[in-house]
Amino acid sequence: MQYMDVSSEHWYPVLRSRELRDDKPTGRTRFGEALVFWRDAAGTPVVMADRCPHRGAALSRGRLRDHELACPFHGFRFASDGRCTRTPPEGDRPVPADLRAATHTATEAHGYIWMWRGAPQDPAELPAPPHHEAVLGMSYGESVSMWPAHYTRCIENVCDFSHLPVVHRTTIGLFKSEAETVVDVETIPGGLRGWLMEDGRRTQCFEFIYPNLWSLQAERSALMSAVFVPVDESTTEVYGRTYTKANFPGLRPLLDLYTRFSQFLVFREDWPVVASQDPGDIRNIRSEKLLSSDAPILAYRKMHYAHTRSAQETTS
Ligand code: FES
Ligand SMILES: [Fe+2]
Repeated sequence: MQYMDVSSEHWYPVLRSRELRDDKPTGRTRFGEALVFWRDAAGTPVVMADRCPHRGAALSRGRLRDHELACPFHGFRFASDGRCTRTPPEGDRPVPADLRAATHTATEAHGYIWMWRGAPQDPAELPAPPHHEAVLGMSYGESVSMWPAHYTRCIENVCDFSHLPVVHRTTIGLFKSEAETVVDVETIPGGLRGWLMEDGRRTQCFEFIYPNLWSLQAERSALMSAVFVPVDESTTEVYGRTYTKANFPGLRPLLDLYTRFSQFLVFREDWPVVASQDPGDIRNIRSEKLLSSDAPILAYRKMHYAHTRSAQETTS
């Protein structure tokens, strides 16, 4: 599998907190790399390459023993910093110091497990993971969907107002006409905000926080959000949420159900079109023509190109 070249020096949400169990490891592919997620003795998330440095078995098939990860093949144990602590078949021989599992910097915030793209660092030395101010403290339900497209194309899609009356003509675009789409775009710290103008009024607003957080506030509907998790060059896992200020016992399962249903109805209309866009990664675009109704797409591309260019400059 090909590792993805994504913008570095950023936190990316890569898993939902509720998917990470205390009693066993969880395997997922992220950025084209097979990874294993688990919690250490303090409950802190650990992210490692899902490959045992002994003979290559998938560590996600192993077990958690005494707050360490035990390989499913010969039982070698790995601590949260990747150090191999025990090699049972070797008896009393010392564990080689270079027998280590590759680890990534990880933290947990806002109901997600986050992975730092860049050189491993102490999370305490890094900026806090980003969030949308408007949703802080609200209750939410969640949905999960797998989009068959590069994550940059998925992000463009949710920043695009002019596809609503065409792609979503039987759902959220039902009462929208294919007439002129007027948008207003502004930059905000760490991202951008896009407004849909109708009759001279701002009626819908999305907020995008680089590299992959998005939320939408419409006039008469709930606040929703999605994070776009790069799986590989042609797959993106999308964690969607619907937020409400209400809070009562039993609300969470209801909100989950509502979020799964409503976001499935809408997103399944997006998948075929987004998957058909060529090229996938927007950095490979050579000949598209953006018009004034594409202003949010242009703003996102500028931001993404600036980040990926500076990353290239730093590594070259
Ligand atoms: S392959 Fe993991 S302990 Fe042998
Ligand atoms: Fe859409």
